[in-house]
Amino acid sequence: MGNSPKILVTGGAGYIGAHTVVELMAAGYDPVIVDNLSASDKTLLAGIHQITGKVPNFHQGDCRDKAFLNFVFKTQGPFSCVMHFAAFKSVGESVQKPLLYHQNNVGSLLTLLEVMEEHGVKDFIFSSSCTVYGQPDNIPVDERAPFKRAESPYGATKQLCERILEDVHTTGFRVISLRYFNPIGAHPSAFMGELPIGVPNNLVPFITQTAAGLRKKLTVFGNDYNTPDGSCIRDFIHVVDLADVHVKALVYLAKDSRKNVYDAFNVGTGKGASVLELVNTFIRTTGAALPFVIGPRRPGDVEKVYADPTKVNSALKWSAKYSMEDALKHAWAWEQKLLKSH
Ligand code: NAD
Ligand code: UD1
Repeated sequence: MGNSPKILVTGGAGYIGAHTVVELMAAGYDPVIVDNLSASDKTLLAGIHQITGKVPNFHQGDCRDKAFLNFVFKTQGPFSCVMHFAAFKSVGESVQKPLLYHQNNVGSLLTLLEVMEEHGVKDFIFSSSCTVYGQPDNIPVDERAPFKRAESPYGATKQLCERILEDVHTTGFRVISLRYFNPIGAHPSAFMGELPIGVPNNLVPFITQTAAGLRKKLTVFGNDYNTPDGSCIRDFIHVVDLADVHVKALVYLAKDSRKNVYDAFNVGTGKGASVLELVNTFIRTTGAALPFVIGPRRPGDVEKVYADPTKVNSALKWSAKYSMEDALKHAWAWEQKLLKSH
């Protein structure tokens, strides 16, 4: 791609990373993907090709493997920025396998930072999560809210990674942590979407797989929370909007002339929606049948959380464009496409 700035995208074969690769290409960047395919396969890489017409520049390997990363930096660089999506993300699994989660999520970050330092790459965009706040005292939550003790080892890895980044930024790194709220939806083309391996933990893939007949019924985890309809409240954000904020963050960092930067942004719509509202919106907008029952609360779930996105709106000049209806329609179109291809 000639002189387009090269961006290393770790975890670029996964859900959010692959959507970001498409937006990066559209904005004139040259993304280089690193992924060990531990939580994905090549389906989304094929989707990137179908949407953009370009074969993604993909290197299979592990972010904890220093020799592999060194090779990628040497042969594919120089990179103007690293976007670090690669991590394990299942809250429940992290409780079963805490060592694996710390080893992978924190280990990958440390190795990557060492390799960046050796190659003089400074700009870094990190996939953080609203889970760093735990159950915040004030909602909507802004970036100044304190980190409560993490509810899970997964949450702890995100808190630790942010702390590591904050500590090391003084030695020359320029870092933005993006604290995602709840990404949902799929690419409007239906060439790409969420593709969990095994039984989905997250709400929307469970819904689409149930409506598609792959699961018997959805269980709504609790209707006795202190919320208007009793179910949990989240800030659901379309994955393409989320992908777009990465491009905005890249431009923002490039314009910032400071040598050391550490900044964090909440990335959400600013609107809370309950699980039952989302379920009903899915049924109404897609017309699909969705059998569901109310079950007990899921341990570790926070009651309600949604973003105050004022900072990301003003500093990065970004705001969410897609609605929850759009996201659910796109997720359903993607699920149907998957069904046809199997
Ligand atoms: P995903 O599982 O679809 O993608 C992650 C990708 O990273 C996968 O393709 C996996 O194979 C790869 N990977 C994992 N460990 C690796 C390693 N050591 N080396 C190389 N590749 C590795 O997940 P996603 O939803 O796209 O999430 C991306 C990032 O965003 C993660 O850091 C996640 O914690 C964070 N995040 C996700 C959500 C969400 O609900 N999806 C919310 C907040 C934050
Ligand atoms: C959590 C984290 C998020 C993290 C993500 C990774 C919080 C607030 N958010 O999202 O930062 O990155 O996990 O996976 O900690 N639900 C059902 N039935 C289901 C599945 C889910 O009712 O079958 C409900 C859950 O109880 C929850 C909501 O749907 O209230 C969303 O759940 P999910 O999609 O798993 O995401 P979070 O747990 O909010």
